[in-house]
Amino acid sequence: MTTSHPSDAYADDRAHVFHSWSAQGALDPLVVAGAQGSWFWDEAGTRYLDFSSQLMNVNIGHQHPKVVAAIKDYADTLCTIAPFHANAKRGEAARLISEVAPGDLSHVFFTNGGAEATENAVRMARLHTGRHKVLTMYRSYHGATGGSIHLTGDPRRWPSEPGAVGVVKFWGPYPYRSAFYAVDEAQESERALAHLADVLMVEGPGTVAAIVLEPVVGTNGILVPPPGYLAGVRALCDAHGILLIADEVMSGFGRCGEWFAVDHWGVVPDLVCFAKGVNSGYVPLGGVIISPAIVDTFRDRPYPGGLTYSGHPLACASAVASITAFQEEGIVENARRLGDDVIGPELRAMAERHPSVGEVRGLGAFWAIELVRDRATREMYVPFNASGADAAPMVELTKACRARGLWVFSHFNRIHVTPPLNTSDDDVRLGLSILDDVLQIADARVTA
Ligand SMILES: Cc1ncc(COP(=O)(O)O)c(C=O)c1O
Repeated sequence: MTTSHPSDAYADDRAHVFHSWSAQGALDPLVVAGAQGSWFWDEAGTRYLDFSSQLMNVNIGHQHPKVVAAIKDYADTLCTIAPFHANAKRGEAARLISEVAPGDLSHVFFTNGGAEATENAVRMARLHTGRHKVLTMYRSYHGATGGSIHLTGDPRRWPSEPGAVGVVKFWGPYPYRSAFYAVDEAQESERALAHLADVLMVEGPGTVAAIVLEPVVGTNGILVPPPGYLAGVRALCDAHGILLIADEVMSGFGRCGEWFAVDHWGVVPDLVCFAKGVNSGYVPLGGVIISPAIVDTFRDRPYPGGLTYSGHPLACASAVASITAFQEEGIVENARRLGDDVIGPELRAMAERHPSVGEVRGLGAFWAIELVRDRATREMYVPFNASGADAAPMVELTKACRARGLWVFSHFNRIHVTPPLNTSDDDVRLGLSILDDVLQIADARVTA
């Protein structure tokens, strides 16, 4: 028999756990012993304010009592059941998700996470349209499975290349670093749409099944689309019989201060991919929300895809409880208010104080601080896709946050501010004041 003491968890991890995205030798993971609300702590009891919501998924905060109770309750009733059966929690989750979904989207195909959602959405689009090609953005992440890694535009796809046949990349809007030499948001929107129209022209619009995009790009920069852009993409899709797939895995379920990011612009996609915030990852869950027209395609023809755990009852029970708690506790509205009244104004004030801040941007509880060496040239604080010594200045900042009890997610030259949507104003202000302090380290590296 083995006895358990705090260091066993670390030793077992280092001896036996093979971690994602990492060179295994250099890892030194924090052993997390518990979590509550917007905080988690290690075995020594050191507490961290979770400004990353783990991987931007714990939208409802840690250990929400209603969600924990729902899982426990349903575990006593039915821990698992095959996907071909109907089940009360599976049906209720699908109904609630359809009710909060954009437009008339009516059916849900459940997966275990986001990558399987984008894989299946593309499969549906190809079969529905009878076309093969798919367009995605360079600045994007759509998952790490065999198909979704090739939808992904960021450097995480490089080691898995050569890419999938028929996945074509285009530039999305990014006013701060415009690929189109645009001088303002209106011009960025117009030129990004003209570029997409050009890509469609040369690829052959009649060969394209779908355009897949993150309505607000997440990991690759929290890029809020300029006014008119998403509506313009919708119009291009409609003109050519192309489906619009919104990957709302990160931006959905309240993160942007609406149920789905597309709701900000009133755009209705044909397929919406979700995961993360649907149940904050208490039990793995994702899926695709499907339009009636696409459901019709598979009325008499079998859909050729499935997963043993599709619509897992404990995952669905937790989604039902989480969506209900969102509604009862005004959690989506709170995310919007946090963005409008607390995070946005505070970050903009910080940008004034710190020469290392090139831009702050975001909405809801979804914000980025983009750091630069030089505000005039916009030279990035660390290079694109920096690693090793090149990335050290960003590691220094995240470590400084940790030393002050703040856990942040950083990517390239950005620190993201993405707390649980129900974080208290006081805790949000505490985290922002720590960031304000830490940014002095970055200011010292500014060259101009
Ligand atoms: C926009 C987007 N799509 C898909 C995924 C993949 O989700 P998962 O890690 O659950 O497979 C992610 C994960 O971060 C994401 O942010």
